[in-house]
Amino acid sequence: MSDAIGTANRIAAEEIERQKQFCAEIRKLNEGRPGGLPLAYTQTYGCQQNVADSQRLMGMLQDMGCGFTQDPFEAGIIVINTCAIRENAEKKVFGVVGQLVHAKEKNPDLIICLCGCMAQQEVVAAKIKNSYRHVDMVFGPQALWKFPELLYGVYTDHKRTFSIADEHGAIAEGLPVVRESGVKAWVSVMYGCNNFCSYCIVPYVRGRERSREPSDVLAEVRSLAEAGYREITLLGQNVNSYGKDLDEPMDFADLLREIDKIPGDYLVRFMTSHPKDAGRKLFETMAECSHVAKQLHLPVQSGSSRVLKAMNRGYTREQYLEKVRMAREAMPEVVLTSDIIIGFPGETEAEAMETVSLIEEVRYDALFTFIYSPRPGTPAAKMPDPVSRGEKQVWFDRLLDAQNRISGELHRAYVGRTLRVLVDGESGDSAWPLSSRTAGGRLVHLQGDGSLIGRYIDVRITGSNTWALFGETL
Ligand code: 5AD
Ligand code: SF4
Repeated sequence: MSDAIGTANRIAAEEIERQKQFCAEIRKLNEGRPGGLPLAYTQTYGCQQNVADSQRLMGMLQDMGCGFTQDPFEAGIIVINTCAIRENAEKKVFGVVGQLVHAKEKNPDLIICLCGCMAQQEVVAAKIKNSYRHVDMVFGPQALWKFPELLYGVYTDHKRTFSIADEHGAIAEGLPVVRESGVKAWVSVMYGCNNFCSYCIVPYVRGRERSREPSDVLAEVRSLAEAGYREITLLGQNVNSYGKDLDEPMDFADLLREIDKIPGDYLVRFMTSHPKDAGRKLFETMAECSHVAKQLHLPVQSGSSRVLKAMNRGYTREQYLEKVRMAREAMPEVVLTSDIIIGFPGETEAEAMETVSLIEEVRYDALFTFIYSPRPGTPAAKMPDPVSRGEKQVWFDRLLDAQNRISGELHRAYVGRTLRVLVDGESGDSAWPLSSRTAGGRLVHLQGDGSLIGRYIDVRITGSNTWALFGETL
């Protein structure tokens, strides 16, 4: 492995080229199959980084000559990209993978691959090895770039393959990609995480922080803008750490400023910002860059300084509130969202209610809320956790009630306003067939036909509920 990595943990171009040759070899094998080229079925769980990873895997599958299907029983190859962030996500995947035994019984040539964060954990790989024998290949996020080589081994040696070495992680440029929409695109700016929040499994499964070179990020954004993409979301577990590991350090705000110079009719969003590293420079840069959406996802996790310390978050309630004040000073209309965990080990009712009071104080536009889920191997999983699930649920429901009321009130204040939105897809609801997003990322349901998809239009907001706005085209 080590000789495949060039400077700054970069996979050498020759190595990426070698992977392309494996794609070409697999394509040849596929073309020789009696049933014709196989179809691939991919399923993705978890965060946007996983969605972006799956788009790379699909790019490689396409280079291998595969088409795509939505039906696992029609597929010749199945790739399940998994999430490890909470136990529920893992349970769901084991259920789905268990069911695939029937697809394998129908088609013994079927190749089943499990990848992503869950697959990176040794306990999971061992369970798959012993109890899910119909799975042919398991590989973690760090091994994604060598998917073609691993798959070639399964094709030719007919042996089960497990690639979950505990690697620091590297950067692979130039992997092929299949983007599912011509409107929105994901661009990773960095990988991994160094923060080790005490509840979180991510640093253990996605390796250490590593930033892509600015020139690579800029080239990708430029090509997307030229291809007419309207919304480009920059991804990283903590984008505010961007650049710290580069030979010529550059911070995330400077990167945004460079991106902003790229011409085109597009908006840039990003996630996720860690409050300890986000500050005035970032907020002022966002305010000044016309391509950058005035939208900030700033996960607070808890409103109690004691719990924040136990979570190893690196800020207090007061310091967080000061960041929010600074963001609003720079961008008075900024749309703010956050992640919250209720029921961290040892959290008391009074501390959970401090979180409720914090959301009342900040008045977020929307929240992603979770009940704490112990992740084996993390420090929090070893902490005493005496509060029952039922009691945590009561606190959680209080949080949701408060947030639903706040979101409803904030949404109602949009009614009567005219806003520019990007029509981004069909909603599946015949009464309101189109979905669109404001510059701040709020969902607006619209009437109209599919020809509007991919266009920025002005709409008048005519109604609202807790989760969304309703508008009419002008
Ligand atoms: N339990 C519950 N929620 C978690 N998150 C991360 N780890 C856990 C866990 N063990 C939440 C955090 C994070 C979001 C992506 O998932 O709020 O910001
Ligand atoms: Fe997990 Fe914390 Fe890293 Fe986010 S910043 S991925 S919550 S360890």
